[in-house]
Amino acid sequence: MSVATRIARLRAQIEQHNHRYYVLDDPNISDAEYDQLFRELQALEAQHPELITPDTPTLRVGGTPLKIFREVQHRTPMLSLNNAFSEAEVRAFDARIREALGVDEVEYAVELKFDGLAVTLTYLDGVFVQGATRGDGSVGEDVTENLRTVRDIPLRLNEPVAELEVRGEVLMFNRDFELLNEAQRARGEKEFVNPRNAAAGSLRQLDSRITAARRLSFFAYGMGRCAGIELPGEHHSQMALLQRLGVAVAHQRRLVRGASGLLDYFADIGRIRAELPFAIDGVVYKVNDTALQQQLGYVSRAPRFAIAHKFPAEEASTTLLAIEIQVGRTGALTPVARLAPVFVGGVTVTNATLHNEDEIRRKDVRINDVVVVRRAGDVIPEVARVVLEHRPADTRAFVMPSVCPVCGSHVAKAEDEAVSRCTGGLFCPAQRKQALLHFAGRRAMNIDGLGDKLVEQLVDANLVRTPADLYRLGLLAVIELERMGEKSAVNLLAAIEHSKQTTLARFIFALGIRNVGETTAKDLAQHYGSLDKLLAADEADLLQVRDVGPVVAHSIRDFLQEMHNREVIEQLRACGVAWQEHEMRVATGLPLSGKTFVLTGTLSSLSRDAAKEKLEALGAKVSGSVSKKTDYVLAGTEAGSKLDKARELGVTILDEAQFMALLAPLADFQSAG
Ligand code: IVH
Repeated sequence: MSVATRIARLRAQIEQHNHRYYVLDDPNISDAEYDQLFRELQALEAQHPELITPDTPTLRVGGTPLKIFREVQHRTPMLSLNNAFSEAEVRAFDARIREALGVDEVEYAVELKFDGLAVTLTYLDGVFVQGATRGDGSVGEDVTENLRTVRDIPLRLNEPVAELEVRGEVLMFNRDFELLNEAQRARGEKEFVNPRNAAAGSLRQLDSRITAARRLSFFAYGMGRCAGIELPGEHHSQMALLQRLGVAVAHQRRLVRGASGLLDYFADIGRIRAELPFAIDGVVYKVNDTALQQQLGYVSRAPRFAIAHKFPAEEASTTLLAIEIQVGRTGALTPVARLAPVFVGGVTVTNATLHNEDEIRRKDVRINDVVVVRRAGDVIPEVARVVLEHRPADTRAFVMPSVCPVCGSHVAKAEDEAVSRCTGGLFCPAQRKQALLHFAGRRAMNIDGLGDKLVEQLVDANLVRTPADLYRLGLLAVIELERMGEKSAVNLLAAIEHSKQTTLARFIFALGIRNVGETTAKDLAQHYGSLDKLLAADEADLLQVRDVGPVVAHSIRDFLQEMHNREVIEQLRACGVAWQEHEMRVATGLPLSGKTFVLTGTLSSLSRDAAKEKLEALGAKVSGSVSKKTDYVLAGTEAGSKLDKARELGVTILDEAQFMALLAPLADFQSAG
């Protein structure tokens, strides 16, 4: 037998055993026999590296660490689901569908809502070639190497389908989560709060060998692009097809009819939820017939044909021991309840937010009260209400401090606001820490590994006062920090160095100017093209920027008038933070430059995302809301309030045919550009 044939046989055998072990939970050889096959394959591949293919199971143990994850543009967007929390909302969903389709009863495919992370897997000619996270739905991160280590993701499908995108959820089984935390404890490392966070942390490892050592699982729930195989016209059958191809699909799925079928399924799953070996946060209902799905279409980023029916937030009661104050990035003082530890929603909770002073008064929360704590999904736990029947005699009312508990500055409360703020600005260490965390954040300068614990230490040790200080950190100072090995220190400095090359939009966002979110930062970058132009702009000038109103313009001026902020900006530039400046070419040189479009309703010949892409390529700006500055509203079928607003403001409205007619003469420009 040739080496190539032996290798091919070994691979097929190993994958078959993997499938039996990880998917069917029914192995038919011993671990030792399996290891022998695996080692033989590894040895042959080491001798014949030219025979290594992307689907070889030896790659499942992880490989060379990456520096960063590449970005992946999803070819079909990864959508989200609308939620229903009550029987009435489920009935309303069914009624909407029946009405839209003009039928008396609808068949639904119903399945579990896995509490993990969405990923998309691309197979070409049946071979797994790329896997990515959902990201913002349009652009995700390339985590191919990590996903290869997930044993129930087949590296090769049972049939050589030309192209198939499998959509599903990566999660960690409860048992694997417990084992992982035991190991973390034994090594003195941080434990994960729940299986979802453990799965997310494991999938976003730059070193795939770490992912390989964590046991992740996968279940498919849908498909993206597909070519070269005839797809059944029903969601339920598509899932059966995936299963036939070797992809893991959870078996608790069913076909039901009508709202009563949906609600029965919800009740049934609620009963077995605690026995499932993994976490779910509800169930999902999907119109089974895919032609009807298309007919129903989408509203913004979610399909009309599907809905997630979520389990109610979990609640538990406990004693409120104290109310402490947390100071946020903008100085907002948030009262936080310190609680006697209580297990709720899958984690032990010791803190819960009380939002602000008015909320405390409204709910009549006092120190020493017995309170109900609520936690839903991944959101911050909150104090829902007081159990007045159990109020002890010795409760104390909470008083908002008049000085900041961190820096002692005066606390101010604007008349029209519920929040009190510390007036210390960046003099206040708490605000400084939050500002640094924001600066380093993923959507800002993206400094990997600079989390809250580290920022805390850097500020407390007086190593870092402003963002610019980050770029002056030396290895020796960093190594001195608690729990910091030489390798982590080198990695941190590399991540800081790496962040120097950025974009103007990220830089503006990273500055943390009040009221300047990511979108406004992008608008400002787009409008001015260079930082110096932005620095020179006065308020009247800022008002010319799309979507910038008086409040935002004022915040920007306030921020830039502060000498301290100017200095930090100059220091950052001096440290080598840089980006490509573009000279307003985009804003003036293209056929639709300076025009703002709003898209609404469903289009028949292209998706809204595709229309947006076309418009942006031609220089137009696509905005989410209609205002006086809108030039055109493109209205598809079932356009709603945006269309009304456009009529009200007298904005030019285009239907799909008029839109296509507008684009047609510009087609050359697009292909040329
Ligand atoms: S379908 C076209 N099905 O929930 C709709 N999603 O809230 C695409 N999820 O990002 C999603 N279980 O991560 C679908 N059985 C299921 C699911 C499921 C979990 C997650 C998924 C998605 C999120 C939407």
